[in-house]
Amino acid sequence: MNQQGQKPSDFQIRKCCAGGFKTLLQLFRELWPDKPIRPATLRKTYNRGLTRESQAYISVIDKARVVGFGSLTIKNSLWQEGTVGHIDELIVRHEYRGRGIGTQLLSCLEALAKERKCRRVELDSAHHRKEAHRFYEQRGFHNRAFLFSKVL
Ligand SMILES: CC(C)(COP(=O)(O)OP(=O)(O)OC[C@H]1O[C@@H](n2cnc3c(N)ncnc32)[C@H](O)[C@@H]1OP(=O)(O)O)[C@@H](O)C(=O)NCCC(=O)NCCS
Repeated sequence: MNQQGQKPSDFQIRKCCAGGFKTLLQLFRELWPDKPIRPATLRKTYNRGLTRESQAYISVIDKARVVGFGSLTIKNSLWQEGTVGHIDELIVRHEYRGRGIGTQLLSCLEALAKERKCRRVELDSAHHRKEAHRFYEQRGFHNRAFLFSKVL
């Protein structure tokens, strides 16, 4: 129970659908405050993800309001001789943080990855997201690599 009298179970977790894109835009803007978002292009990419077997988008709803979002991609991995789940995005609306929603989203993404026989779940996270790093480490994630990225 939090200060607002809500338990994590009071929030609903749902698979996302095409109709939900508009309400997610605000969350994406919160996740990438420095990135100029092109809504039409992002919507296309989102819709493409919805059609892919290898991707899952989930959102958390509080009284018809989207307050959290998580996404997963299933990768075929030679290293793991099987599949690996990659968490691509995880975001909880600022005023809803610290109420267990992020933990619920993460567990749900892990469960989806397990269902798909993934041997691991992984993610990358920008250097400045120190609180998120602590959040992941406290939930069993181990910082095992650097991520290298190049603009093309
Ligand atoms: C990381 C994030 C998804 C966690 O969501 P959440 O709903 O606050 O998570 P929970 O309530 O389940 O757990 C919160 C835990 O994180 C800590 N925390 C991290 N950032 C916090 C914040 N801004 N407000 C409150 N708690 C925060 C809490 O202290 C708590 O610690 P605990 O492990 O001792 O319980 C959320 O803080 C967020 O959206 N951050 C900004 C976006 C981001 O960095 N995403 C990760 C990209 S890799």
